[in-house]
Amino acid sequence: MGFHLNFKNIFSISLGLSSVVSAAVIPRDSPSYYTRNLNTITSIYQYTIYPNQLPIVAQATQESIPQLANLFSPTVAGRIQDIGNFTDFRTSIEYFFGLAPTPRAPKNGAISAIDITQFSSGCPSVAASTVVFTISVWDDTTKSYGEVLTYLKQSGFWHFNDQGQVDYYDLNIPALGDFTGILQGVDFSSQLVQLLATKEVCAGAQAACTGANTQYYPNNGVSVNSILKSLGISLLNLSLIQQLDLGSLDLGGLNCFAQLTKKPFGDFNKLWSDSVVCRVVHLMLAVIDPVDHCPHVGPTGGMKCVNYGYEDRLFLSDAALFGDVHRFVCPAS
Ligand SMILES: *[C@@H]1O[C@H](CO)[C@@H](O)[C@H](O)[C@H]1NC(C)=O
Ligand SMILES: *[C@@H]1O[C@H](CO)[C@@H](O)[C@H](O)[C@H]1NC(C)=O
Repeated sequence: MGFHLNFKNIFSISLGLSSVVSAAVIPRDSPSYYTRNLNTITSIYQYTIYPNQLPIVAQATQESIPQLANLFSPTVAGRIQDIGNFTDFRTSIEYFFGLAPTPRAPKNGAISAIDITQFSSGCPSVAASTVVFTISVWDDTTKSYGEVLTYLKQSGFWHFNDQGQVDYYDLNIPALGDFTGILQGVDFSSQLVQLLATKEVCAGAQAACTGANTQYYPNNGVSVNSILKSLGISLLNLSLIQQLDLGSLDLGGLNCFAQLTKKPFGDFNKLWSDSVVCRVVHLMLAVIDPVDHCPHVGPTGGMKCVNYGYEDRLFLSDAALFGDVHRFVCPAS
């Protein structure tokens, strides 16, 4: 299982950016905003290439981040389907760079290259793009170091303010479930994998969310035996019990496990839900910014890992999120 929750295995190999960033050729006579918008989007994605995201993530809770000053408006907001809406600079930045993979066993995959394979910009304020991320093995102790593991695609629309900073985005990631299985090297439909992932969320929540950010407290009614019983796991199934090793959780973590195994495990294609998978992703953000994100891994989902209706997620909140449902249409004049 690969949900290591801190930045382990950081090593300082830096590929020359010019060799790993590619974008559509800029057409002759294209207006200056076309080039500017393409450069802005390319620069944003450059910071997802490992290890470029690490200095950004380290500044995630700062008021402003110098490297991003020309790229994002201080009031940027948007949505990534089907992960969630991100209504300010801080959570947007955490989404864009905090979820960029860092090498984790067993696959040790991280982004090694980006390619803007689709791009258009018909006015200064709007552009559409697709990026293809290449995910490669980043473990220089293995023979497969540098091999391509897989790819990930993200498409959608961007809106730029008068200074050329992104102030709104509406993006989609297709087939995130298939991607996550390949990146993690596990089959998330297996009961054991689901239970282990749930346990990692609970261990991680206890480690990242402490003091005022604590989400799960000890509960006297909960024990390893009561949990195994409620999951229908036979006490004779020693191999399963040993692999789960629930005794390694603290009492709050055990209560977490008891609560989260009552929720659906969920589907990485629909992260925005009251599920374990939503908490897997928000735990990555809670490690970076416990104040903002610990509530999302908690029992209530903190308004994020919550079951919103289909129309609410995709249509009804557009006006609130973008200020205008036609935000991504070039203005008439
Ligand atoms: C132990 O649990 C695993 C996973 O649920 C199951 O596949 C296996 O059949 C069980 N073994 C026994 C002996 O009950
Ligand atoms: C974010 O999404 C949720 C679920 O659709 C919605 O209730 C909330 O109003 C949205 N926030 C904004 C600012 O659009």
